[in-house]
Amino acid sequence: MPTPPQPRTAPLPPEQRTAAAPAEAPYAPQRVPAQRRQAPAAAPTEPSLFPAGGHPPVRQTAPVGPSAASAPHAGAPTAQAAPHAGAPTARTAPPAGPSAAHTTPASEPSAAPASQEGTPPDAVLIQRTMATVTPVADKVTSYFYALLFVRHPDLRPLFPAAMDAQRDRLLKALLTAAEHIDNTDVLVPFLQNLGRGHRKYGTRPEHYPAVGECLIGSLSRYAESVWDDETEAAWVRAYTTISQVMIDAAAADELRSPAWWHAEVVSHELRTPDIAVVTVRPDQPYPFLAGQYTSVETPWWPRIWRHYSFASAPRSDGLLSFHVKAVPAGWVSNALVHRARPGDVLRLGPPAGSMTVDHTTDSGLLCLGGGTGIAPIKALIEDVAEHGERRPVEVFYGARTDHDLYDIDTMLRLQQAHPWLSVRAIIDQQAHLQLPDAIREYGPWNEYDAYVSGPPGMIRSGVDVLRNAGIPHERIRHDSLEELVASGS
Ligand SMILES: Cc1cc2nc3c(=O)[nH]c(=O)nc-3n(C[C@H](O)[C@H](O)[C@H](O)COP(=O)(O)OP(=O)(O)OC[C@H]3O[C@@H](n4cnc5c(N)ncnc54)[C@H](O)[C@@H]3O)c2cc1C
Ligand code: HEM
Repeated sequence: MPTPPQPRTAPLPPEQRTAAAPAEAPYAPQRVPAQRRQAPAAAPTEPSLFPAGGHPPVRQTAPVGPSAASAPHAGAPTAQAAPHAGAPTARTAPPAGPSAAHTTPASEPSAAPASQEGTPPDAVLIQRTMATVTPVADKVTSYFYALLFVRHPDLRPLFPAAMDAQRDRLLKALLTAAEHIDNTDVLVPFLQNLGRGHRKYGTRPEHYPAVGECLIGSLSRYAESVWDDETEAAWVRAYTTISQVMIDAAAADELRSPAWWHAEVVSHELRTPDIAVVTVRPDQPYPFLAGQYTSVETPWWPRIWRHYSFASAPRSDGLLSFHVKAVPAGWVSNALVHRARPGDVLRLGPPAGSMTVDHTTDSGLLCLGGGTGIAPIKALIEDVAEHGERRPVEVFYGARTDHDLYDIDTMLRLQQAHPWLSVRAIIDQQAHLQLPDAIREYGPWNEYDAYVSGPPGMIRSGVDVLRNAGIPHERIRHDSLEELVASGS
């Protein structure tokens, strides 16, 4: 068996590697020790961005502008690291001051403090920055990473060797979260999940100020025309709030779960030339729910993680299966389909995703699955079967050609075994009925919750079809992190 990938942790002093490190407000709390904040002993129970029930800092409590913290980082990113970079100026001071969220009583959970006379609210300042940087998002990302790696070289080993096309995800998530900071119902679970997921990268609470400082450094450079002290203070508040939710969620997760699991491949079955069913045995129990997904790192591409959905409901033997399609020039998918063999050891992140069955109701399930998106749908069917419910489950299995229906035999076997299940294949190229017509024809769907799973384009069109069929948005579940981040919904 090959050597499992080595755990990656940031090069920190040993005392900082201990479990359940105190969660700190992200911004330079050491400069104002009186306002330090202790980690909660457990996960925050209330879905609020402000766990102490307070507003984020009001402007006066977050001093901005050049500060001592900017001095050690005065070096400019190298031209190689940052093609667009000049030296960060003294104006790009790191955000200063701790979160005053816990020192300022408040009446309602909003990221925007009561606006001072003449000062626009945070949301307006953030929107204004976003409008300015969006057309040059690539440059902002390059400069952000250049600042981060030049100022904080100790953080470089946490990231993949090659920062590929997906490198913009961190910044995109940050900007989207800041922009939608008041949408706590969506943001809090999203950020908690993100915070938990960051444990596998070796991210520690003390890394957050560095990322915040480089975010501000990069934004202030590319939004120079609209940047001022108020804008900087608004971003400091937003970043502090976002980070605190992530840090708290990670600290709570440390008390109950490993940062990652090793999982040995126990079987590898090629279903088509480019789709494999990969089954793994985790080294410790791996709790998850049918319909969720995890992140996977292969030994061949260290620190490159991709998401894959569980293809079965939790099994008594503890094994986990994934259906993986090798995409052209795809790093991880090709490794899993064409290279992985029994005995290889992968790393898994924590489970995530809310495309799960609500067992407190008996509504039917209307499932649209395309490509390997049929895998989590199969898991949902198994889940309903295991709960002994006889609620109707209607599956529309979409594909471009019949070759793409690689799992139709399994689905038809399930249909034979369960009278409450119907499976219909909709093949684009030969369908008498296209998906929208089929959905309309077999409705009405008033008593159903809908589940959509597949490539992002299919999710988008599937959701449209369902909305047009009268299914309200809140009854449609799908997961795609990218979708969530991109839409900021
Ligand atoms: C929540 C979630 C669940 C997922 N579940 C599964 C699953 O169960 N099975 C599965 O196979 N995949 C699944 N994916 C997709 C998976 O995470 C990877 O994105 C995919 O395997 C490609 O990764 P890669 O490293 O091989 O390609 P990358 O190296 O990331 O990409 C290489 C190139 O391929 C392009 N590309 C990326 N994805 C596709 C695609 N789907 N089709 C065509 N070109 C593409 C990229 O734009 C890029 O040019 C899921 C994604 C999400 C967000
Ligand atoms: C508020 C702060 C942050 C936000 C919103 C954020 C968001 C994200 C997102 C969305 C991703 C994409 C992959 C995923 O979903 O896990 C990501 C990846 C990553 N983040 Fe963060 N992050 C934050 C802070 C940090 C910090 C402080 C560190 C530590 C240095 C860090 C290190 C990483 C690493 C190593 C990756 C993987 C990079 C890659 O795969 O290319 N992040 N982050």
